[in-house]
Amino acid sequence: MKKILILNGPNLNLLGIREKSIYGDQSFESYFESLKQRFSAIELHYFQSNSEGVIIDKLHEVGFSFDGIVLNAGAYTHTSIAIADAIAGISTPVVEVHISNVHQRENFRQHSYLSKNCKGVILGFGIDSYRLGVESFSD
Ligand code: DQA
Repeated sequence: MKKILILNGPNLNLLGIREKSIYGDQSFESYFESLKQRFSAIELHYFQSNSEGVIIDKLHEVGFSFDGIVLNAGAYTHTSIAIADAIAGISTPVVEVHISNVHQRENFRQHSYLSKNCKGVILGFGIDSYRLGVESFSD
């Protein structure tokens, strides 16, 4: 069975509460239940942290044994060379996801430090971006 981690960064614990017009009204926990049912042939894991170092520790922890990581690093996407280096340093492929289409938003969201080190990028499909991210590992 493939092992896939969905890793959420800062403020994504507030999904369903935070800026609903951008990020929707579903909590990640309830969405994750539907993902587990849909991908019953995959061992799906979920972890969220608001701290850059904790996200890096998690990448190191699973990044040599899991089959894939679906990462929404939130605003760290646009600031964190340290997370970019962590992605480069592990062997598990990482798919970068975003709920919103960051290219339709502020200029500071147009650049990702992470994309270069990721297998691919999925963005703008709402919370369904995560499903597409998992799908990309499910061949
Ligand atoms: C986000 C986009 C980021 O710019 C923002 O800081 C987030 C969420 C998204 O999923 O659309 O926190 O990663």
